[in-house]
Amino acid sequence: MYNVEITGTGRYLPDFRVSNDDIAQFVDTSDVWISERTGIKERRISIRENTTDMAVEAARRALQDAELRAEELDLIVVATVTPDNFFPSTACLVQARLGATRAVAFDISAACTGFIFALSIAGQFIKTGQYQKALIIGSEVLSKIVDWQDRNTCVLFADGAGAAVLERGKQGIISELLGSDGTGAEKLACSAVPLQNKFTGTCSDAENGSGSKFIRRDYITMNGREIFKFAVNIMPECILQVLENTGYSLKDVKQIVPHQANIRILEAAAKKLAINKDKFYVNLGHYGNTSGASIPIALDEMAEKGLINPGDLLIIVGFGAGLTYGAQLLRWTKESSRK
Ligand code: COA
Repeated sequence: MYNVEITGTGRYLPDFRVSNDDIAQFVDTSDVWISERTGIKERRISIRENTTDMAVEAARRALQDAELRAEELDLIVVATVTPDNFFPSTACLVQARLGATRAVAFDISAACTGFIFALSIAGQFIKTGQYQKALIIGSEVLSKIVDWQDRNTCVLFADGAGAAVLERGKQGIISELLGSDGTGAEKLACSAVPLQNKFTGTCSDAENGSGSKFIRRDYITMNGREIFKFAVNIMPECILQVLENTGYSLKDVKQIVPHQANIRILEAAAKKLAINKDKFYVNLGHYGNTSGASIPIALDEMAEKGLINPGDLLIIVGFGAGLTYGAQLLRWTKESSRK
């Protein structure tokens, strides 16, 4: 079996910044409430770029960082819950725009855990020797599925993309775990088109094939308290589990790179793990929750700042709609060329 090394990272964030005060102009909220309850100060919102546009830009930067040409890629996996189209996949559109002519390309749906799932899936192909070079991307324009009148959600979610190039190597992914709990599906959801065609007549919410507990709305609905509880339990669990049987403990880990949802979730997780909260890399104050993009954006930012160096152990950990969760224990191998 081979291993999988991250040999390049890239990110793209739209220019347009929306502050908490900006949001307080149209919903009943305040900078104080949002900052204290979430840690978010501002977020980037896309005015012109859709999910594919941002994915392509993040991908170009990751390829440049890895000094790899798109034609050399064997595989492209895009994690997104906000694709431009039901089909074709975002990954096929990215493939065409990059000129990655040899690559197999497909999307996956694991919401905020999307990057972790994509890393695992692409990693399996590389570990078995089927492919050698892969591009994985998390790209989201959540602003198009946010209800901008719902203060419970519109203060949290935002837009952005992050990418990583994976190549066959000797070290990299030390251990990983993925998990799903579909019984919690309705706690964080966004419906697609209802079951309705020439033969159904107009169907009610309860008859639309997904069960009546789903509220049929084409924007995000969330039980914030339930998701908070889930996150606070699952994050420490994933972190401890991914270390099990590896011979490493938390003190060997340089930094934990979590999905960026809420500072209070990270503080609670740090408390449960009895670690300093600085062990978590945090940038959610600037970007809000960009779902599957948040971890690769953070990794790229850390690499750029020279915060991660060859030999460092990292844990990436996430949770999200589905419900889904997962983590990887990684040995970082890439020398930063951008310090
Ligand atoms: N501004 C002001 N008040 C708000 C508000 C906002 N943006 N959003 C909610 N409130 C109000 C609520 O309506 C409620 O008012 P009420 O007591 O009159 O009913 C009050 O604040 C407390 O609501 P509550 O839900 O208990 O707040 P909270 O401390 O749990 O914080 C979240 C709410 C959403 C920030 C928090 O639950 C959370 O972060 N959950 C996880 C969400 C998440 O990460 N989702 C993505 C996962 S990938």
